[in-house]
Amino acid sequence: MTRGGFPFPVDIYYQTDDKLEGVYHRGQNKIWDGKKVLSSALKKYGLPQIDAEKQIAVEALFSIILWGEYAAWNVSSQLSSMLDDYGAKMAAVSQAHDEARHFYVMRDYLQTLGHHPRPLPAPVQYILESVLETPDLARKLLGMQLMIEPVALTIFRFVKKSNVDPVLTELLGYFEIDESRHVALGVKYLPKILKRMSKFEMMNFLLWQARMIRAEIQGLKYMEPYLITLGMDPLEVFEFTEQRQIECLKMVTLEMGLGDSLWAPIVKLIDFQKHLMFRSNPKASFLRRFGNSFISTFLTSYTTEPHS
Ligand SMILES: [Fe+2]
Ligand SMILES: [Fe+2]
Repeated sequence: MTRGGFPFPVDIYYQTDDKLEGVYHRGQNKIWDGKKVLSSALKKYGLPQIDAEKQIAVEALFSIILWGEYAAWNVSSQLSSMLDDYGAKMAAVSQAHDEARHFYVMRDYLQTLGHHPRPLPAPVQYILESVLETPDLARKLLGMQLMIEPVALTIFRFVKKSNVDPVLTELLGYFEIDESRHVALGVKYLPKILKRMSKFEMMNFLLWQARMIRAEIQGLKYMEPYLITLGMDPLEVFEFTEQRQIECLKMVTLEMGLGDSLWAPIVKLIDFQKHLMFRSNPKASFLRRFGNSFISTFLTSYTTEPHS
């Protein structure tokens, strides 16, 4: 099912996943011209005039987004070659087309700020490389569609809300519409692979996910000062991301006809890391913070509801 090559999968020629084929058609119907959208926003609002401190924050966050878009473009291209189901293949290639547009639009926008490309922070580099380099289809789908995409969508939403620059706000509206289509490939296709996994494979898969979550939280911690500069509450951003990811994982288990117990340890892990990174007193020793986070996570009742 996941050869991506010869012989052609004639058996599924007509039994392709209609919902995923629909992602391709919706992408085609809602396509937008990045060059035109950026130039008309610049004409409408003029060149970005951002306060110096905020501009540093915008550049720091969106240089990460830029390379995230580049990675998403490459990963979705890999997926379009690896997948055999025609509908899934069409969804992946449509995503690759969107991500290429996101990359050049973000690059051109950053250029208007006089931005020069910069290296990625280590945890973000770890995440993007792990997803790019893994030959495993399940890890690629989980990593890109259900872990990286929700983070990008959250950042877009919060930066849009902060309206630091009307040009950026306008662009992000277009990005959001495209990105919201991309989650479907993971939700629809991942369950097919998970159902065929042995217990051992599943355990390794969940361990890989746990390492990714750890790096993702470190990445969000790196962004913390920039989020604050742009008037956001880092914990609110974190919790919004967390909710989005958990909703995606729940959709996967629903598609598999299972309860949420598969992800329960992962949800606990996210909660634990959150306490450690965002809620504990940064002046306390690491051991004390670790202990407090452990107690508040594992010795309190299990919940996946949003924290108020
Ligand atoms: Fe994108
Ligand atoms: Fe995307």
